Amino acid sequence: MPVEPFSDDEDDYKGASSMQEGRIIKTFQANGVDTTFRWPCAADLDAFIEMHRTLTREEVMCRRLDLDRDSGRMMFEDIVHDLRQDKLGYILVEQDGRLVGEGFTNSSGYQYFTVGLALIDRVRGMGIGTALMWTLEEESRRLGARRLFLSVWSANPSAVHVYEKVGYNECGRRSRWVQMDDGSECDMIDMVKLDI
Ligand SMILES: CC(C)(COP(=O)(O)OP(=O)(O)OC[C@H]1O[C@@H](n2cnc3c(N)ncnc32)[C@H](O)[C@@H]1OP(=O)(O)O)[C@@H](O)C(=O)NCCC(=O)NCCS
Repeated sequence: MPVEPFSDDEDDYKGASSMQEGRIIKTFQANGVDTTFRWPCAADLDAFIEMHRTLTREEVMCRRLDLDRDSGRMMFEDIVHDLRQDKLGYILVEQDGRLVGEGFTNSSGYQYFTVGLALIDRVRGMGIGTALMWTLEEESRRLGARRLFLSVWSANPSAVHVYEKVGYNECGRRSRWVQMDDGSECDMIDMVKLDI
């Protein structure tokens, strides 16, 4: 049976040392627009699904989840569950009351975490991705991470640039691993940031 996200039942929060519904982590201006990084709250479900539909429509290189109401709700509940267990850091990006992106940092055990993020097209190139990477690193550290890992397509040079800028180094490359929509191939680059 599905768990009601963020119910008022105190028992639901057991083990959730740091979970606070909708807590604002950071607010700043990106190209003159108020931009907020915050934790999710129950009221986000529809906007969360809509944001993922946008990412899928835009054929973003990752996070094409193509969520309907049921799968969206399940995924949202999984995120909330893992947040409560401190196994996951998850940050929503909001502008003008709309969700425009997300980032996560996921415990893989042994103090290493896997990081990922995606922004909808119209908010890219404003410095939000770089700021979100720094915030995900802080969140990872809070959760006990010492090392960060991510994978990125070689056909995504702006992402590779952002990751290098915030201190990640290539540690491996799977040559011609990815088959893209147009049939061409690119490499999958593995990157790490150690001793954070
Ligand atoms: C990758 C992504 C998170 C970056 O976020 P963003 O907010 O656009 O990034 P920023 O604005 O902080 O920085 C972009 C940087 O890329 C640079 N850049 C843009 N196009 C570039 C290119 N073709 N080659 C190299 N660098 C490029 C910009 O100059 C900027 O660097 P600078 O600040 O040093 O000048 C965002 O574009 C996104 O969500 N893309 C779709 C989803 C995705 O690819 N996620 C990552 C999957 S691993």
